[in-house]
Amino acid sequence: MRKSLIAGNWKMNKTPYQAQMLARQIDSIQLDDAVEALICVPAIDLQAVNEVLDDSQLHLGAQNMYYEDHGAFTGEISASMLKDLQVEYVILGHSERRGIFGETDEMIQKKVEAALKAGIRPILCVGETLEEREAGKQEEKVQGQLLSALQGLSPKDLESLVIAYEPIWAIGTGKSASEEDAQEMANFIRQQVSSMLSKAAGDAVRILYGGSVKPENIKAIMEQEDIDGALVGGASLEAASFISLVNYRID
Ligand code: 13P
Repeated sequence: MRKSLIAGNWKMNKTPYQAQMLARQIDSIQLDDAVEALICVPAIDLQAVNEVLDDSQLHLGAQNMYYEDHGAFTGEISASMLKDLQVEYVILGHSERRGIFGETDEMIQKKVEAALKAGIRPILCVGETLEEREAGKQEEKVQGQLLSALQGLSPKDLESLVIAYEPIWAIGTGKSASEEDAQEMANFIRQQVSSMLSKAAGDAVRILYGGSVKPENIKAIMEQEDIDGALVGGASLEAASFISLVNYRID
């Protein structure tokens, strides 16, 4: 049974003080405990948020990490540093990291491996550009990203790893993929995982949809058979809207 996961990606928003306030606000409301709620905050906010999440139902995640454990890598953060702050998840290969900061499939594969080794669950992001979708190449693009990132993993790893399908054209645009398109790609991803690793791995892996998810469209997205959750940017930055996303079953 795959537990639903609603993950907020705060991106580069909120100072440590603001982050503590928002985490406290979210944490003060009863969240549906059949749904796992996660906030992925800027690295500089992790310590501050960790302090207010003692005994909380909210899980803590990071947005990036480097694959080496320590050393001369100015500005980088390692899995063991995240682990020390009780970070349970890390977003890897987000399209903003790939597009703006030039992260390659090879780097992302190493990061996935390093996160799993440290006991942090990677949220691996995949997805196509508008151009690729218009050319009917979305499956080819996502297949290539998966083939690279899942290299060397065991079926067991797929119980920890989460895959987020985020079509780039739907991110921050207000234009979400239709639930049918999102389901079609989630199903494609599940089949790819089954054929690359095993049927059990395909059945176990949690697949999220990301791209303009809001309280108004979360229910229709979560009704899709192969979609186990959402990775949410803009709508996770306000306590009320994030809470209503997590409580989508009871609102
Ligand atoms: P929006 O929800 O703001 O479209 O962002 C999606 C995203 O990139 C989450 O990682």
